[in-house]
Amino acid sequence: MKKDLLKLMDLSREDITKILNVGDQMKYNQKHKLTHNYLEGKSLAMIFEKNSTRTRVSFETGMYQLGGHALFLSGRESQIGRGEPIEDTARVLSRYCDGIMIRTYEQAEVEELAKFATIPVINGLTDFAHPCQVLADLMTVRERMTRLAGLNLCFIGDGNNMANSLIVGGLKCGMNVSVACPKGYEPDQKVLDYAKTVTDASFRLACNPLEAAEDADVIITDVWASMGQEDEAQKRRIAFQGYQINEALMKKAHASAMVQHCLPAHRGEEISAEVFEAHADEIFEEAENRLHAQKAVMYLLMGD
Ligand code: CP
Ligand code: NVA
Repeated sequence: MKKDLLKLMDLSREDITKILNVGDQMKYNQKHKLTHNYLEGKSLAMIFEKNSTRTRVSFETGMYQLGGHALFLSGRESQIGRGEPIEDTARVLSRYCDGIMIRTYEQAEVEELAKFATIPVINGLTDFAHPCQVLADLMTVRERMTRLAGLNLCFIGDGNNMANSLIVGGLKCGMNVSVACPKGYEPDQKVLDYAKTVTDASFRLACNPLEAAEDADVIITDVWASMGQEDEAQKRRIAFQGYQINEALMKKAHASAMVQHCLPAHRGEEISAEVFEAHADEIFEEAENRLHAQKAVMYLLMGD
Protein backbone atom coordinates (compact mmCIF):
# COMPACT_ATOMS: atom_id res chain seq x y z
CA MET A 1 0.00 0.00 0.00
CA LYS A 2 1.05 3.60 -0.54
CA LYS A 3 2.04 5.95 2.31
CA ASP A 4 -1.25 7.88 2.09
CA LEU A 5 -4.96 7.40 1.43
CA LEU A 6 -5.78 10.32 -0.87
CA LYS A 7 -8.26 8.74 -3.30
CA LEU A 8 -9.43 5.23 -4.16
CA MET A 9 -7.88 5.49 -7.62
CA ASP A 10 -4.50 5.03 -5.88
CA LEU A 11 -5.54 1.68 -4.34
CA SER A 12 -5.60 -1.78 -5.93
CA ARG A 13 -8.45 -4.23 -5.42
CA GLU A 14 -6.11 -6.13 -3.07
CA ASP A 15 -5.50 -2.97 -1.00
CA ILE A 16 -9.25 -2.39 -0.65
CA THR A 17 -9.89 -6.03 0.29
CA LYS A 18 -7.13 -5.85 2.90
CA ILE A 19 -8.66 -2.70 4.44
CA LEU A 20 -12.11 -4.31 4.52
CA ASN A 21 -10.73 -7.51 6.08
CA VAL A 22 -8.87 -5.58 8.77
CA GLY A 23 -11.99 -3.43 9.25
CA ASP A 24 -14.06 -6.56 9.93
CA GLN A 25 -11.42 -7.68 12.43
CA MET A 26 -11.42 -4.25 14.13
CA LYS A 27 -15.21 -4.47 14.46
CA TYR A 28 -14.94 -7.95 15.95
CA ASN A 29 -12.25 -6.81 18.39
CA GLN A 30 -14.28 -3.86 19.55
CA LYS A 31 -17.54 -5.83 19.90
CA HIS A 32 -15.76 -8.56 21.88
CA LYS A 33 -13.75 -6.08 23.98
CA LEU A 34 -10.45 -7.52 22.73
CA THR A 35 -7.43 -5.28 23.25
CA HIS A 36 -6.29 -3.73 19.97
CA ASN A 37 -4.09 -0.85 21.05
CA TYR A 38 -1.90 -1.05 17.94
CA LEU A 39 -1.30 2.71 17.81
CA GLU A 40 -0.32 3.23 21.43
CA GLY A 41 1.59 6.47 21.90
CA LYS A 42 0.73 7.73 18.40
CA SER A 43 -1.09 10.92 17.45
CA LEU A 44 -3.33 11.85 14.53
CA ALA A 45 -3.73 15.52 13.59
CA MET A 46 -7.20 16.15 12.14
CA ILE A 47 -7.52 19.29 10.00
CA PHE A 48 -11.10 20.37 9.30
CA GLU A 49 -11.80 23.18 6.84
CA LYS A 50 -15.44 22.00 6.52
CA ASN A 51 -18.06 20.84 9.02
CA SER A 52 -18.25 17.25 10.22
CA THR A 53 -19.97 14.99 12.73
CA ARG A 54 -19.20 11.39 11.66
CA THR A 55 -15.69 11.90 10.33
CA ARG A 56 -14.50 13.82 13.35
CA VAL A 57 -16.07 11.52 15.93
CA SER A 58 -15.12 8.26 14.19
CA PHE A 59 -11.48 9.26 13.67
CA GLU A 60 -11.13 10.62 17.20
CA THR A 61 -12.74 7.65 18.96
CA GLY A 62 -10.98 5.29 16.56
CA MET A 63 -7.59 6.65 17.54
CA TYR A 64 -8.55 6.40 21.22
CA GLN A 65 -9.64 2.77 20.82
CA LEU A 66 -6.33 2.00 19.09
CA GLY A 67 -4.49 3.36 22.12
CA GLY A 68 -3.52 6.63 20.46
CA HIS A 69 -4.67 10.21 20.52
CA ALA A 70 -6.28 12.56 17.99
CA LEU A 71 -6.23 16.34 17.90
CA PHE A 72 -8.76 18.55 16.20
CA LEU A 73 -7.37 21.47 14.19
CA SER A 74 -9.94 23.84 12.84
CA GLY A 75 -8.80 25.34 9.55
CA ARG A 76 -10.13 28.68 10.73
CA GLU A 77 -8.47 28.75 14.13
CA SER A 78 -5.10 27.27 13.15
CA GLN A 79 -2.49 29.21 11.17
CA ILE A 80 -3.79 27.51 8.01
CA GLY A 81 -6.68 29.97 8.17
CA ARG A 82 -4.18 32.84 8.19
CA GLY A 83 -2.47 31.58 5.07
CA GLU A 84 0.43 29.45 6.34
CA PRO A 85 1.50 27.40 3.29
CA ILE A 86 0.27 23.81 3.33
CA GLU A 87 3.80 22.54 2.67
CA ASP A 88 4.97 24.18 5.92
CA THR A 89 2.01 22.76 7.88
CA ALA A 90 2.94 19.34 6.45
CA ARG A 91 6.53 19.59 7.62
CA VAL A 92 5.61 20.89 11.07
CA LEU A 93 2.93 18.27 11.78
CA SER A 94 5.31 15.55 10.54
CA ARG A 95 7.60 16.43 13.45
CA TYR A 96 4.89 16.09 16.13
CA CYS A 97 2.41 13.51 14.88
CA ASP A 98 2.21 10.09 13.25
CA GLY A 99 -0.57 10.80 10.76
CA ILE A 100 -2.73 13.60 9.36
CA MET A 101 -6.40 13.46 8.42
CA ILE A 102 -7.63 16.41 6.39
CA ARG A 103 -11.08 17.55 5.24
CA THR A 104 -10.93 20.43 2.81
CA TYR A 105 -12.09 21.75 -0.58
CA GLU A 106 -9.39 21.15 -3.17
CA GLN A 107 -8.03 17.67 -3.79
CA ALA A 108 -4.78 19.41 -4.84
CA GLU A 109 -4.34 20.71 -1.29
CA VAL A 110 -4.48 17.18 0.12
CA GLU A 111 -2.04 15.92 -2.53
CA GLU A 112 0.31 18.81 -1.69
CA LEU A 113 0.07 18.07 2.02
CA ALA A 114 0.97 14.42 1.36
CA LYS A 115 3.87 15.40 -0.86
CA PHE A 116 5.52 17.44 1.89
CA ALA A 117 4.50 15.30 4.89
CA THR A 118 6.78 12.45 5.92
CA ILE A 119 3.85 10.82 7.76
CA PRO A 120 0.67 9.27 6.23
CA VAL A 121 -2.07 11.63 5.06
CA ILE A 122 -5.70 10.48 4.97
CA ASN A 123 -8.36 12.28 2.91
CA GLY A 124 -11.39 12.90 5.14
CA LEU A 125 -13.32 14.45 2.20
CA THR A 126 -12.54 16.90 -0.55
CA ASP A 127 -14.74 18.27 -3.34
CA PHE A 128 -13.35 15.44 -5.48
CA ALA A 129 -13.38 12.39 -3.22
CA HIS A 130 -14.59 10.79 0.00
CA PRO A 131 -12.55 7.58 0.13
CA CYS A 132 -13.07 6.76 3.84
CA GLN A 133 -16.84 6.94 3.42
CA VAL A 134 -16.81 4.63 0.42
CA LEU A 135 -14.60 2.10 2.24
CA ALA A 136 -17.27 2.04 4.96
CA ASP A 137 -20.00 1.66 2.31
CA LEU A 138 -18.18 -1.27 0.68
CA MET A 139 -17.63 -2.83 4.10
CA THR A 140 -21.35 -2.57 4.87
CA VAL A 141 -22.44 -4.02 1.53
CA ARG A 142 -19.96 -6.91 1.82
CA GLU A 143 -21.06 -7.57 5.42
CA ARG A 144 -24.73 -7.76 4.42
CA MET A 145 -24.45 -9.36 0.99
CA THR A 146 -21.29 -11.46 1.65
CA ARG A 147 -19.59 -10.33 -1.58
CA LEU A 148 -19.00 -7.32 -3.81
CA ALA A 149 -17.92 -8.63 -7.23
CA GLY A 150 -20.86 -9.10 -9.57
CA LEU A 151 -23.30 -6.97 -7.55
CA ASN A 152 -25.04 -4.01 -9.20
CA LEU A 153 -24.39 -0.66 -7.49
CA CYS A 154 -26.52 2.32 -8.49
CA PHE A 155 -25.89 5.96 -7.52
CA ILE A 156 -28.64 8.55 -8.03
CA GLY A 157 -27.98 12.28 -7.82
CA ASP A 158 -25.09 14.71 -8.00
CA GLY A 159 -21.82 13.62 -9.65
CA ASN A 160 -20.00 14.78 -6.54
CA ASN A 161 -17.24 13.47 -4.24
CA MET A 162 -19.41 10.50 -3.21
CA ALA A 163 -20.31 9.62 -6.81
CA ASN A 164 -16.64 9.86 -7.85
CA SER A 165 -15.44 7.61 -5.03
CA LEU A 166 -18.29 5.11 -5.37
CA ILE A 167 -17.67 4.68 -9.08
CA VAL A 168 -13.96 4.02 -8.53
CA GLY A 169 -14.40 1.91 -5.38
CA GLY A 170 -17.27 -0.12 -6.81
CA LEU A 171 -15.51 -0.85 -10.11
CA LYS A 172 -12.24 -1.71 -8.34
CA CYS A 173 -14.16 -4.34 -6.36
CA GLY A 174 -15.78 -5.80 -9.48
CA MET A 175 -19.22 -4.25 -8.97
CA ASN A 176 -21.26 -3.13 -11.98
CA VAL A 177 -21.89 0.57 -11.46
CA SER A 178 -24.72 2.65 -12.90
CA VAL A 179 -25.14 6.34 -12.19
CA ALA A 180 -27.99 8.75 -12.95
CA CYS A 181 -27.24 12.49 -12.81
CA PRO A 182 -28.95 15.51 -14.35
CA LYS A 183 -27.15 17.01 -17.36
CA GLY A 184 -24.35 19.29 -16.21
CA TYR A 185 -23.91 17.47 -12.89
CA GLU A 186 -21.92 14.46 -14.11
CA PRO A 187 -19.02 12.88 -12.16
CA ASP A 188 -15.47 14.14 -12.66
CA GLN A 189 -13.97 13.50 -16.11
CA LYS A 190 -10.94 11.71 -14.54
CA VAL A 191 -13.35 9.23 -12.97
CA LEU A 192 -15.27 8.72 -16.24
CA ASP A 193 -11.94 8.14 -18.00
CA TYR A 194 -10.93 5.62 -15.34
CA ALA A 195 -14.27 3.80 -15.73
CA LYS A 196 -13.55 3.32 -19.45
CA THR A 197 -10.38 1.37 -18.63
CA VAL A 198 -12.17 -1.21 -16.45
CA THR A 199 -12.73 -4.54 -18.20
CA ASP A 200 -14.08 -6.88 -15.51
CA ALA A 201 -17.13 -4.81 -14.45
CA SER A 202 -19.53 -2.52 -16.29
CA PHE A 203 -20.16 1.21 -15.95
CA ARG A 204 -23.23 3.09 -17.18
CA LEU A 205 -23.99 6.81 -16.95
CA ALA A 206 -27.68 7.59 -17.48
CA CYS A 207 -29.94 10.61 -17.17
CA ASN A 208 -32.99 8.59 -16.18
CA PRO A 209 -32.91 7.43 -12.51
CA LEU A 210 -35.43 4.63 -13.12
CA GLU A 211 -33.24 3.24 -15.86
CA ALA A 212 -30.12 3.37 -13.67
CA ALA A 213 -31.90 1.63 -10.78
CA GLU A 214 -32.92 -1.40 -12.87
CA ASP A 215 -31.85 -4.65 -11.12
CA ALA A 216 -29.75 -2.80 -8.55
CA ASP A 217 -28.50 -4.65 -5.47
CA VAL A 218 -27.44 -1.43 -3.73
CA ILE A 219 -28.90 2.03 -4.28
CA ILE A 220 -26.97 5.02 -3.00
CA THR A 221 -27.55 8.74 -2.99
CA ASP A 222 -26.14 11.90 -1.44
CA VAL A 223 -27.20 15.51 -0.96
CA TRP A 224 -28.03 17.69 -3.96
CA ALA A 225 -25.86 20.55 -2.67
CA SER A 226 -22.57 19.65 -1.00
CA MET A 227 -20.57 21.67 1.49
CA GLY A 228 -19.34 24.79 -0.29
CA GLN A 229 -22.35 24.80 -2.67
CA GLU A 230 -24.85 26.37 -0.26
CA ASP A 231 -25.38 29.33 -2.62
CA GLU A 232 -26.49 26.96 -5.39
CA ALA A 233 -29.01 25.09 -3.21
CA GLN A 234 -32.12 26.63 -4.80
CA LYS A 235 -30.90 26.16 -8.38
CA ARG A 236 -29.94 22.58 -7.58
CA ARG A 237 -33.32 21.84 -5.98
CA ILE A 238 -34.86 22.53 -9.39
CA ALA A 239 -32.21 20.68 -11.42
CA PHE A 240 -32.43 17.55 -9.26
CA GLN A 241 -36.23 17.13 -9.28
CA GLY A 242 -36.89 13.42 -9.84
CA TYR A 243 -33.42 12.32 -8.69
CA GLN A 244 -34.80 10.86 -5.50
CA ILE A 245 -34.65 7.40 -3.95
CA ASN A 246 -38.32 6.68 -3.28
CA GLU A 247 -40.66 3.73 -3.40
CA ALA A 248 -41.21 3.97 -7.18
CA LEU A 249 -37.44 3.86 -7.76
CA MET A 250 -36.96 0.99 -5.30
CA LYS A 251 -39.47 -1.07 -7.33
CA LYS A 252 -36.94 -1.09 -10.20
CA ALA A 253 -34.26 -2.60 -7.97
CA HIS A 254 -34.06 -6.17 -6.69
CA ALA A 255 -36.54 -6.78 -3.85
CA SER A 256 -33.61 -7.38 -1.48
CA ALA A 257 -31.75 -4.19 -2.53
CA MET A 258 -29.90 -2.24 0.15
CA VAL A 259 -29.91 1.54 0.50
CA GLN A 260 -26.87 3.52 1.58
CA HIS A 261 -26.52 7.22 2.37
CA CYS A 262 -23.34 8.79 3.74
CA LEU A 263 -25.41 11.27 5.79
CA PRO A 264 -26.44 13.92 6.62
CA ALA A 265 -29.67 13.21 4.68
CA HIS A 266 -32.30 15.63 3.41
CA ARG A 267 -35.56 13.72 3.55
CA GLY A 268 -37.89 14.78 0.75
CA GLU A 269 -34.97 15.81 -1.46
CA GLU A 270 -32.51 13.05 -2.47
CA ILE A 271 -34.37 10.38 -0.44
CA SER A 272 -37.96 9.99 0.70
CA ALA A 273 -38.63 9.72 4.43
CA GLU A 274 -40.30 6.31 3.87
CA VAL A 275 -37.32 4.74 2.10
CA PHE A 276 -34.89 6.29 4.57
CA GLU A 277 -36.72 4.81 7.56
CA ALA A 278 -37.26 1.45 5.88
CA HIS A 279 -33.48 1.17 5.37
CA ALA A 280 -32.35 3.04 8.48
CA ASP A 281 -30.64 -0.01 9.92
CA GLU A 282 -28.37 -0.36 6.87
CA ILE A 283 -27.71 3.38 6.75
CA PHE A 284 -26.69 3.64 10.41
CA GLU A 285 -24.60 0.46 10.12
CA GLU A 286 -22.83 2.27 7.28
CA ALA A 287 -22.22 5.22 9.61
CA GLU A 288 -20.89 2.88 12.30
CA ASN A 289 -18.58 1.18 9.83
CA ARG A 290 -16.77 4.49 9.29
CA LEU A 291 -15.19 3.79 12.68
CA HIS A 292 -14.07 0.25 11.88
CA ALA A 293 -12.90 0.91 8.32
CA GLN A 294 -10.93 3.98 9.38
CA LYS A 295 -9.32 2.11 12.26
CA ALA A 296 -8.15 -0.38 9.62
CA VAL A 297 -6.77 2.42 7.46
CA MET A 298 -4.97 4.04 10.40
CA TYR A 299 -3.54 0.71 11.56
CA LEU A 300 -2.33 -0.21 8.07
CA LEU A 301 -0.82 3.24 7.39
CA MET A 302 0.39 4.29 10.83
CA GLY A 303 1.11 0.97 12.57
CA ASP A 304 4.66 -0.33 13.02
N1 CP B 1 -20.58 11.21 5.99
C1 CP B 1 -19.76 12.11 6.55
O1 CP B 1 -18.62 12.30 6.14
O2 CP B 1 -20.31 12.77 7.60
P1 CP B 1 -19.73 14.06 8.32
O3 CP B 1 -19.80 15.19 7.33
O4 CP B 1 -20.62 14.26 9.50
O5 CP B 1 -18.31 13.80 8.73
N1 NVA C 1 -21.27 15.38 -0.79
C1 NVA C 1 -21.37 15.77 0.61
C2 NVA C 1 -20.91 14.66 1.49
C3 NVA C 1 -21.01 14.96 2.96
C4 NVA C 1 -20.49 13.86 3.81
C5 NVA C 1 -20.55 17.02 0.83
O1 NVA C 1 -19.43 17.11 0.29
O2 NVA C 1 -21.00 17.91 1.52
